[in-house]
Amino acid sequence: MTIKIVIEEITQIDKDIYDLLLLGDSSKDMLNDYINRSQKYVAKISEKIVGIIVIINTRPKTLEILNIAVREEFQNKGIGKQLIKFVINMARAGKNEIIAIGTGNCGIKQIALYQKCGFRIVGVELDFYKHYFEEFYENGILCRDMIRMKMYL
Ligand code: COA
Repeated sequence: MTIKIVIEEITQIDKDIYDLLLLGDSSKDMLNDYINRSQKYVAKISEKIVGIIVIINTRPKTLEILNIAVREEFQNKGIGKQLIKFVINMARAGKNEIIAIGTGNCGIKQIALYQKCGFRIVGVELDFYKHYFEEFYENGILCRDMIRMKMYL
C-alpha cells in the first residue's frame, strides 16, 4: 500500500531540513552552492517533514534532481519514489524533455530506484567524488565515480 504523503514547496531551510539534505549530499560546499538557487519540495506525513527533493533548471527543457533524501526511519516505504514521480509529472507539465540525476557508483539502491522510475545510465564521471572532502563507503564500496542518469520524457 502506498503511504500517504503531502508534497509542498519550501523556501526556508532550517537545521532539520539542512541535516536531511546532508543525507543526500555529504558535501556541504556543494549543498551550500545550490541550496538557494534551486526549488525544494518536502514530503510530509501529518505535518512532519519526512523527505525532500531538490531540483534546478540546468538548461532549456532540462531539469536536474540535485538532491533527494528520506529520513532513515521512513525509508523503503515508497516515499522516494513518490517524490521522483512528483518531479516527473511537474517536468512533463512544464514541457521539459529531460530529467537528469547523478549518483555515486556505491549507491546500489539509488541506481535501482532511479532505473525503476525510468532513468537510464548515460555516462560515468570517473573520480568525480575525489574532490569530496571525505572518502565515503556505501554497501562496502568506495564512492569514486558519478553515475550520470537521464530520463527522456
Ligand atoms: N535492488 C533492486 N531494487 C532495490 C534495491 C536493490 N538492491 N534496494 C532498493 N530497491 C528498490 C526497492 O525495491 C524500491 O523499489 P519498488 O518500490 O519498485 O519496490 C526502491 O528501490 C526504493 O524506493 P523507495 O522506498 O521509494 O525509496 P526511499 O523512500 O527509501 O528513498 C532514497 C530512496 C535514496 C531517497 C533514500 O534511501 C535516502 O534518503 N537515502 C539516503 C540519501 C541518498 O542516498 N540520496 C540520494 C542521493 S543521489
